[in-house]
Amino acid sequence: MTSHRRENLGLADAVTLFDPTAVNVQRDPYPSYHWLLRHDPVHRGAHQVWYVSRFADVRAVLGDERFARTGIRRFWTDLVGPGLLSQIVGDIILFQDEPDHGRLRGVVGPAFSPSALRRLEPMIEATVDDLLRPARALGAMDVVADLAYPLALRAVLGLLGLPAGDADAVGCWSRAVGRTLDRGATAEDMRRGHAAIAEFTDYVERALAERRDDGADLLALMLAARRSRLMSRNEIVSTVVTFIFTGHETVASQLGNGLLSLLHHPDQLELVRRRPHLVPQAVEECLRFDPAVQSNTRQLTADVELHGRRLRRDDVVVVLAGAANRDPGRYDRPDEFDIRRDPVPSMSFGAGMRYCLGAYLARLQLRTALGAMATLPDLRLATSPNELAYQPRTMFRGLTRLPVAFTPAG
Ligand code: HEM
Repeated sequence: MTSHRRENLGLADAVTLFDPTAVNVQRDPYPSYHWLLRHDPVHRGAHQVWYVSRFADVRAVLGDERFARTGIRRFWTDLVGPGLLSQIVGDIILFQDEPDHGRLRGVVGPAFSPSALRRLEPMIEATVDDLLRPARALGAMDVVADLAYPLALRAVLGLLGLPAGDADAVGCWSRAVGRTLDRGATAEDMRRGHAAIAEFTDYVERALAERRDDGADLLALMLAARRSRLMSRNEIVSTVVTFIFTGHETVASQLGNGLLSLLHHPDQLELVRRRPHLVPQAVEECLRFDPAVQSNTRQLTADVELHGRRLRRDDVVVVLAGAANRDPGRYDRPDEFDIRRDPVPSMSFGAGMRYCLGAYLARLQLRTALGAMATLPDLRLATSPNELAYQPRTMFRGLTRLPVAFTPAG
């Protein structure tokens, strides 16, 4: 299916059937979002899915328990088919409704508090430094492969209390499993995902067997919860796998998207370089302008009316964070990238009871990495913008490569 366009009516960006798997939408979803925001804010799109785009509606959906996750869990477990993968997917915190969702969040929550995460700050700074060292001498790098993915992976391994040296293997398994949880997944993606989950699970089981529950990290916290019967072994394995995937794909993609926004706006990049105190604001604007997580999915447990549309029980509803972040009803000049705008919270980390647990950890990495990149002299894109490609995913938005150049250190 594609996102049909009615060029012949002069409505170049008119969307008759929004489909996030369409190639043009994956490349640049924003023209379609604008059309939806303006003309059809609660839109029945491809595969009978509802797409909600306005900020206020997205926030309302995310705060309403009738827009639930259980059906979504069933959808994915059915899609991946029987076996270990389906068991792991079935226990993912993101797919639980109450009371299991609250129970799991209660166990892992303390590991995500700013005071607990401060212990990771020196490691994140040292990792950014380490990863940039070879590039500084060369004056060139691929930000996605050389900085974004390795940084995000090491940070999440640090959060869990797993060795940074395991990053390469864990990264491969995680990507293979993650590909199965996308509407665009192919049969080959499924085959690889099933193979990867077996090795990934073995790895987590071994790590658990070797660990004692006396550390300050997330693995220790979950082992303690298991002893108090607050968490099952399967839930622990599933949580480790999920956190590694969600924790690194998101940050890595966001770092690429954010830096690209700055590179496309050299005046703003220069501002960050000259005024490092603006880095946190720049990160917020990068999150708003081009979020790594474009959408979140729910399934209705009751009939609901939204914007005069009647949504039925069991209907699938996708909220479009990427569209809500460009809603003119919420933001002045929504399509301008302006790091000095009064920071208005965006939808990039979600909202309500599922607000992203890793938001603080993500901001820590984005601030450190974007702040360091901005200091590289004469930083610029080292390819034509037309050569840039996005990974073929619907929920996440992230570049395949981001080659940059700068003046090497003398
Ligand atoms: C820039 C980076 C990130 C972005 C854009 C992001 C975005 C999001 C969004 C939009 C949600 C809400 C999902 C929903 O409502 O269905 C979410 C939830 C979540 N995120 Fe993140 N995330 C990021 C980084 C992280 C990191 C680093 C971690 C952990 C290591 C993490 C762990 C989680 C978890 C566990 C949830 C589920 C919370 C729940 O269901 O209660 N995220 N994230």
